[in-house]
Parts: sequence; structure tokens; C-alpha cells
Amino acid sequence: MTDFPLFPPGFVLGAATSAYQIEGGVREGGRGESIWDRFSHTPGKTYRGHTGDVACDHYHRWREDVDLMARLGLRAYRLSVAWPRILPQGHGPVNEVGLDFYDRLVDALLERGITPFVTLYHWDLPQPLQDAGGWPERSVADRFADYAAVVARRLGDRVQHWITLNEPWVFAFLGYGTGVHAPGLTDWKAALQAAHHALLAHGKAADALRAAASAPSQVGITLNLNPVDPVGDRPADREAAHRFDGYCNRWFLDPLFHSRYPPDMLAWWADRAPVMESDDLSGLPERLDFLGVNYYTRAVVGAGPEPPVRVATYRPEGRYTEMGWEVYPDGLYRLLTRLRRDYDLPDLYITENGAAFPDTLQPGGVVEDPLRVEYLRDHLEAARRAIRAGVPLRGYFAWSLLDNFEWAYGYGKRFGLVYVNYADQARFIKASGHWFQRLIGAQP
Ligand code: FCB
Repeated sequence: MTDFPLFPPGFVLGAATSAYQIEGGVREGGRGESIWDRFSHTPGKTYRGHTGDVACDHYHRWREDVDLMARLGLRAYRLSVAWPRILPQGHGPVNEVGLDFYDRLVDALLERGITPFVTLYHWDLPQPLQDAGGWPERSVADRFADYAAVVARRLGDRVQHWITLNEPWVFAFLGYGTGVHAPGLTDWKAALQAAHHALLAHGKAADALRAAASAPSQVGITLNLNPVDPVGDRPADREAAHRFDGYCNRWFLDPLFHSRYPPDMLAWWADRAPVMESDDLSGLPERLDFLGVNYYTRAVVGAGPEPPVRVATYRPEGRYTEMGWEVYPDGLYRLLTRLRRDYDLPDLYITENGAAFPDTLQPGGVVEDPLRVEYLRDHLEAARRAIRAGVPLRGYFAWSLLDNFEWAYGYGKRFGLVYVNYADQARFIKASGHWFQRLIGAQP
């Protein structure tokens, strides 16, 4: 007897992490500085001044972490490569020691039958590239493509699943618009330009990856997407919800699938539209083998003052995670079926889904996290319903394998299937991790 959601044969079930959030070892092995090193070391930018200097010390403990993945029965692992480990200056001389690290990690995963999904950019831009203008500077796209080729030449005989960028909405709009993420700038015109260059960089890197990898490769991009609901029936609230959807979802989906920005949003942003060349977006749909979707919650908005699209955000009655995000599994179903309705979809993967709750380590190394189990179960169930409705969903990655550095929230928020005791770096599989292991074991 089981109440585990069951998925079609071959469905990928794994967990995800990212380099800056887990690796530590920021001054080791020839790694250069990233914008998150600089930002987290700037007073006032992160919770209690936390930084990724040590994080989960995965740079030294990766063998143990791969063993943990094997114990969890993961079929796949989504990791990210730190650009500044490979190219400390962002371009120019290649740091072979950095490549060696990921080379060994990939081998260790494959030895245990765990398929690596490799993200090339999970927000850790080399600081020298930021000093040269960062994402708002067009040349960053070629730099990124060059970096992608370097990594693919080394790992592309074994890695077959590549994600160019993680959540361009977050790193462009929160990095250059609201400033709550690195590099902490507040200029919406620059933010839109950064987002444009992210799309450009994705396209160029997709070509570079395919050319440089010796094994057949599948290339995707990961977006953070949310269904958006109007707070009420007033036309102004509906319009606000449509604008917010344009800002969060369609601004990236439309270029990727229709080779153009959504006309309503271009009109809305007439005074700050990105500078572009005529064919920047033209080849994007053909370049996408899969779309990665990160889903955590929905948005409820109405007309209001918040930039950049003049909305107010609401918190409806409901259950919330420790991030203050509404627990809303049906949003995942609605999102996936909406994607199928509005776009000509390639394969989809949920590349992140999970929840932060206040976990406590009990004697004997036990962590009971029933709310996380419920969150994962309900979202996996929503994913299964979406597959039944015809959505080409091929896999699901829980965020995250380990508790880790949650960006501006530092170590204050725990998303892991595995508890990390930061004082001594000991790892303990949480009840949710044991549950996920049984779920994987129950699959056909
Ligand atoms: C996503 C990020 C990931 C993690 C989760 C909670 O936006 O991609 O690194 O921080 O949120």
C-alpha cells in the first residue's frame, strides 16, 4: 500500500543545488571572485551578514554528498558550475583545477547511476565582468558562450543535460532593478537590458554547447514562473494581474517560444525598452530542447504602486512557508497546463520545487518535517495531474538536496531534504528525505 504519486517509466526524480549556495571554498583551487562574494560581504545585504565563504563545504565534502544522493536513491542531480572557478577573470585563462573539481563530481555521480543536469549560471557572475558592466553590457553574452564551450569541452562527453541560465527574472530584475540580489543595483532600464542580454546569452551558449559537447546534448533554460491571480474583479486589478504576468512570465516565455517580447509589455515599458539588434530573438525557439520550470508559489496582485509594473501584492488566507510564500500546489497544475495551452512546448522539467520550514535537529539525528513532506507530496501530485492532462513533463527536482545559503536570507532558511548542522557540517537526512527516497523506490 502506498499513497505515493506514480509517474511514467523513465520520469526523472532528483534534487537540485547551486554552486555558491553549497560549495564554500571560495578562495580555493584558483577560484576568482563572484558578484555574490562581493555582495554578501557588503554590510547590510544579507541576513546577519551571512556569506557563502564556507556554505555546506561541499567543495571538500562532495564525496560524502554524492553518497547521500545515492542513499536517497536520486536518479538525477542538478548542480551548477561556478563560472569564477573555471574562468577567474570571467574570460581569458582557464583554471583547470576548477574544471577538475566538476569532472570528478560528474564521474562520481555517473558511477552511482545518477544523471547530472548541469546549470552553467546560477547567479555567480565573475566580479571582473560586473566591473566591466555586468549583464547590462552586451558583450557578457559572448563571454557566457565562451565559458559554456570551455565547460562543454571538458564535461560534454558525459553530461547530456545542460541548463544555460537559472531564473533570469531573478538575477536581472532583483540584481539590477530592486537591488536585493547581487550586484545590488537599482536601475530598471539596466535591469531590462540585463534580462535581454540573458536571453541573448542563452541562445549563444546553446549553440556553443552543442558545438563543443561530444555526446548528444539537450539544452534548456530554467525560468521561475508563477500563476498570477487578480485580487478582485475590478478591471484595474485584472489589468494589474495581466501586467504582472507579463513581467514575471511572458517577458521570458514569449521571446523563447515566439521570438518576440509581449507587445503589451513593450508598450508599457516604452521609455525603458531594451536596446537590441533585429535578430537577437529570432532563433530562440529552435534552440530549446527543454524548458526548466522552478515553481514555489502563485502571486495575487491588484492595482497599486509597486514598481516596475504598478501593482500591489496580497497574501490571501492560506498556508505559508517560512519564506512567507503561500503553499499553493494547484498553482503548479495551472501553470503547467497554461504553458501547454499558450506555447508549443518541448519537454519540461520542474528544476526546482520545495519549501523552507523551521526544522530542528533532535537527539539521534532525527529531523521531523511533516510540512515539507506534505508540500512535496501535494506538488508532485499536481505534477502528475498535469502529465495526465497532456503536459510533456519529464522530471522533477526537489529544491534542495541540502540546507544551504539562501541568498539574502543567509542560512536562516532551510530547504533541504538533508539537514546541515553548520557548526560541524554534519548531515542528517530529514523525514522528507526518507519520504522522497521511498517515493523514488515506489516508481515503476
Ligand atoms: C530559487 C533559486 C534557488 C533557491 C530557491 C529557494 O529562486 O533558484 O537558488 O534560492 O529559489
